[in-house]
Amino acid sequence: MPSMSSHRDLVASGFSETASDYDGAVRFNIEGAQRLVMAIPPGDYNDVLDVGCGTGWATQALIDRFSPARVTGVDPSEGMLEQFEAKLGAIDGIDVALVQAGVEDMPVAEASFDLAICSMAYHWFPRRWDAAKAIAQALKPGGVVAILCSGKGGEQAYRDVIADVEPINYAWLGAFDGNLRDIPEMEGYLVAAGLDPIDIWMERRVRHTTVEAYMERMRVVAGHIIGDPSEPEIADWLSQVEEKMRERSGSRGWTYDFMKLFATARKPA
Ligand SMILES: C[S@@+](CC[C@H](N)C(=O)[O-])C[C@H]1O[C@@H](n2cnc3c(N)ncnc32)[C@H](O)[C@@H]1O
Repeated sequence: MPSMSSHRDLVASGFSETASDYDGAVRFNIEGAQRLVMAIPPGDYNDVLDVGCGTGWATQALIDRFSPARVTGVDPSEGMLEQFEAKLGAIDGIDVALVQAGVEDMPVAEASFDLAICSMAYHWFPRRWDAAKAIAQALKPGGVVAILCSGKGGEQAYRDVIADVEPINYAWLGAFDGNLRDIPEMEGYLVAAGLDPIDIWMERRVRHTTVEAYMERMRVVAGHIIGDPSEPEIADWLSQVEEKMRERSGSRGWTYDFMKLFATARKPA
């Protein structure tokens, strides 16, 4: 079984490989981060932490709503941090610090943040209970955390396709079971970390897109699972997948469900 750090490094290197394509391929994450930030209770949030900050969409939404004085972005992917730096590294009046680390061992001071956000990254964390504890530890008493991640029940049409393609890709099939969580599980992580949930909810969206756009999104967010498409066996597997997706597409293209799991919580004062 891969160790926690090797799993994290694999995910991070996958995101580094595709970092320059991320913003173009995953536009839905921008609106998701904005909806998450709109759900944060009003308040003065001067010191904010963005865990799994990626290219900075959630930080951007936080800056737009709360104008914090200091922002710390944590992410193990060097490539994603480079994109963040290019986008948000120099903003007048805001002190931006970027830390290359995983949530599990992020070197940030205890009880030092008014607000922590974690947008579309939590599902990649190999240890969810520890992640919530690490985030809770970084918050000041009374501080707020806002999390958005992939939720259970989404992507079933794609899961059905890959279950029908041979050789069976166990890594892909297992990745969905490992990544997708439901509301009670998120509540469990937060409560066990000593946080008081404010609200936890799921959003189901049915989307129509092209097979090419869907597979580009998969390449960008899960390149480490797909592997190297220049290898003939992987190329063959991908073309079988795309063929089946086309067979199952309708007049509006490839249709899939996406579940987004949102949570806000507060550390007791
Ligand atoms: C889908 S991106 C989301 C980026 C950004 N928060 C957004 O909303 O667009 C997921 C990010 O989580 C990061 N990540 C993966 N494993 C992590 C870990 N163990 N700790 C912290 N971040 C991690 C990845 O490197 C990647 O940048």
